[in-house]
Amino acid sequence: MNILLTGASRGLGLKIAEHLLSSGHTVYGVSRSKSDQLNALQEAYPDQLQFAAYDLTDASNIKTALFDELIGSDIPLHGFVNNAAMAYDDIITNLKVEPLQEMYQVNVISPFMIVRNVIRHALLHRNPCSIVHVSSISVHTGYKGLAMYASTKGALEAFSKNTAREWGSRGVRSNAIVAGFMETDMSSTLSAEQKERIYRRTALKEATRPESVAEMAAFLLSDKAASVTGQNLFVDSGTI
Ligand SMILES: NC(=O)c1ccc[n+]([C@@H]2O[C@H](COP(=O)([O-])OP(=O)(O)OC[C@H]3O[C@@H](n4cnc5c(N)ncnc54)[C@H](OP(=O)(O)O)[C@@H]3O)[C@@H](O)[C@H]2O)c1
Repeated sequence: MNILLTGASRGLGLKIAEHLLSSGHTVYGVSRSKSDQLNALQEAYPDQLQFAAYDLTDASNIKTALFDELIGSDIPLHGFVNNAAMAYDDIITNLKVEPLQEMYQVNVISPFMIVRNVIRHALLHRNPCSIVHVSSISVHTGYKGLAMYASTKGALEAFSKNTAREWGSRGVRSNAIVAGFMETDMSSTLSAEQKERIYRRTALKEATRPESVAEMAAFLLSDKAASVTGQNLFVDSGTI
C-alpha cells in the first residue's frame, strides 16, 4: 500500500512509519524537519520512504507540495494517517487568538484539506482508501489546560464520522484512534507528578505505548479492517 503520513519525523509518527515500512508498505512522510531517526529509516528503506518538508500552518500549497510533487498523480494512494499536531495548552482564561489559530490550522484545517485531496486522488484512481485520524483521550475525559487542544481533536472525530458517511459508498473508510497519554516530545513538559496523576486514571496504570497505537493504525489502514468505518478506536491504557 501507499500511505501518506504526517508528523513522520518524531514520536508516534516515527513509530507508525517504522511499522508500515517494515511491513513492506510505501510511506509518503511529511513534517517540517527531517530527524536523524527518519534519515536512518530512509537509509534502511530507500525505495519505500519518500519525504517532503512541509509546514502544515500553510494549507494553501497542500495540493502542489504533497499531491503533485511528493506523491504525483500517477501513484494510487491507499491511506492517509493524520498524525501531525501541535498542542497549545493553557487555561481558558489565558486564551490568545494567535496560537489558537495556528493550532487549528495545523490540527484541523490542513488535515481537512489533505482529506479532500486524498479522496479526490482515490476517486481518480478508482481504489478504496482508508483515512486514520489520531485523536486524543482528552476529548472524552477532559484535562485541565487542554480545552483548546481537545477541541481540535473533537473536530477531527466529527469530521471523520461524517467523511465515513459521505464517502463510504465510494470505498472510502475513515476512523479515529483515540490515543491515551504517550511519552513523546508533546508530553515532555509534564512533571513526574502530573504524569503519575494521568497514569492513575488508567486501568493499566501506565502510559499508552506508541507501538500499540501504530499497530491499530496499521490495522485500520489494512483490508483486515474492511468493515470498520466511522468509528473511534480507543488505545489509551483503559483510561477511566
Ligand atoms: N503524546 C501524547 O500524549 C498524545 C496523546 C494523545 C494523542 N496524541 C496525538 O498523537 C499525535 C502524535 O503526537 P506525538 O506525541 O508524536 O507528538 P510529537 O512528538 O510532538 O510529534 C509531532 C509531529 O508532528 C509534526 N508537526 C508538528 N507541527 C507541524 C507542522 N506545523 N507542520 C508539519 N508537521 C508538524 C512534528 O514534526 P516537525 O516538528 O518536524 O514538523 C512531529 O513529527 C498527535 O496528533 C497528537 O495530538 C498525543
